[in-house]
Amino acid sequence: MEAMTTHEERVLKAMKARKSLIPQARRSRWRQRFHFMAPAGWINDPNGCIYHEGRYHLFYQHNPCAGRWAAMHWGHAVSADLLHWEHLPIALAPSETYDDHPEGGVFSGSVAANGEELAALYTATTKIAARFVQTQCLATSADGGLTFRKYEANPLIPAPPPGTSSDFRDPKVIRHGNLWYMVVGASLGGGAHAGGEGCCMLYASPDLRRWEYRGIIARSGGKLGTMWECPDLFPLGGQWALTFSPMFSGDKTTVYFVGDMDFENARFHSRNSGELDRGGDYYAVQSMAAPDGRTLLMAWQNGWDWMPGWKGFGPAPQDGWCGNMALPRSVRLDGKNRITSQPADETRSLRRDEWTHSSLAVDAVPFPVPCADPVCFELALEIDITRTSARRLHVDLRGNGEQRTRLTLNFSEKRMLLNRTRADGGITDGIRDCPLALETNSMDLRIFSDTTSLEVFADGGKACMSANIYPADREFGGSFLSTDDGTVAMLRVSSWRLAATVND
Ligand code: FRU
Repeated sequence: MEAMTTHEERVLKAMKARKSLIPQARRSRWRQRFHFMAPAGWINDPNGCIYHEGRYHLFYQHNPCAGRWAAMHWGHAVSADLLHWEHLPIALAPSETYDDHPEGGVFSGSVAANGEELAALYTATTKIAARFVQTQCLATSADGGLTFRKYEANPLIPAPPPGTSSDFRDPKVIRHGNLWYMVVGASLGGGAHAGGEGCCMLYASPDLRRWEYRGIIARSGGKLGTMWECPDLFPLGGQWALTFSPMFSGDKTTVYFVGDMDFENARFHSRNSGELDRGGDYYAVQSMAAPDGRTLLMAWQNGWDWMPGWKGFGPAPQDGWCGNMALPRSVRLDGKNRITSQPADETRSLRRDEWTHSSLAVDAVPFPVPCADPVCFELALEIDITRTSARRLHVDLRGNGEQRTRLTLNFSEKRMLLNRTRADGGITDGIRDCPLALETNSMDLRIFSDTTSLEVFADGGKACMSANIYPADREFGGSFLSTDDGTVAMLRVSSWRLAATVND
């Protein structure tokens, strides 16, 4: 039997392991340029996004020892502008019987500011007699998030209510009225991998320590997957939004409901539902209130192996790292109770070397959009729908002859398609699609390209797609506009090279 080590020791050990991986990760040709990554090692979900004492804090699922998922820790970084991040010491490491297992660890959760203390609520995962055991735990920080101590009376919630499976995780804590509330993802019946029913549970507490089960606020009903990972509940535009990532729900990665939250009776009354992103690589969204009133979303820019069309995590793990966060998004409710997403305005500060052209007619002859950087850029289009005769507009991205990723706006069928079948020689694949509302005379489209990712915001932020691609070289660059037939009237076409924020 190995002697138990303290949490502090385990954090130091993790920091040392990560440090030894950094030179290898730095040399990787796959590093992103303006997306958040760990300095080395694996990342997945954002955990505990919070604006606190003048800075945005991002905690995240992290394996500091390799570019692959194992024994989860919480990494930690801070930023004044959501773009330039300073890496801080690892916040949480597996260290106790309830959270110390190579296939478990300190799973996802959230952080709340409780007076002087920052409270991290997380799922501890361990394995006992070949069964996973997930419990909700607390760790607190008295120094603004630099170091955390695990609560001596953990676990706070030692088991899910009767009738539910052992899939019981990802507590998101919010303050409402005089109480703290926690939403937790769960699976009724068989569990995530055995046909269970995804749902979201509600707990309440006066002090973040004593928790009372209140009920199931929403459930799949056979339509939305077997387990709801990373639920979040936040006010938006005078209503409430409930978001989650359902397992085994076709190609859905991030679902939202908009409606009323009845805390008394633990019920969410949905008025509308939709998907925050349809690109396939956008998962485990967590909201954060900005000091200026905006609601921001952070998400992991990736997906899991049980998702349809999943082809792996790309080549980065061989270089001792893997994963990044999607660009921070700012969300609003529109007049039809739909959530619209835009990249946080801060991203405009990355724009360099603008190229703009107004009044352009795009036809079947590919129009190359000039840009000072063929890989890290933003492309923005404003399309006059009323003067457009073409049924389809193709935007070929990161292309070089045969290889390219094709975004197609199909005006006649009101759909947007992202085709990766020729993106990168087979590392990724498949066609993703999403509806376009097209309710106005013009339509906007913004595309962000970084080393291994594309993010698309279209139609007033109602249609978003985030997808990873791995074109081998910078020669796979450039953007081309074309139609099959007829013309597309562009009110404006702009491109910018985007400045790097990553300092490695
Ligand atoms: C979602 C998730 C969570 C879990 C974490 C483990 O991506 O599966 O449900 O807490 O990742 O790393």
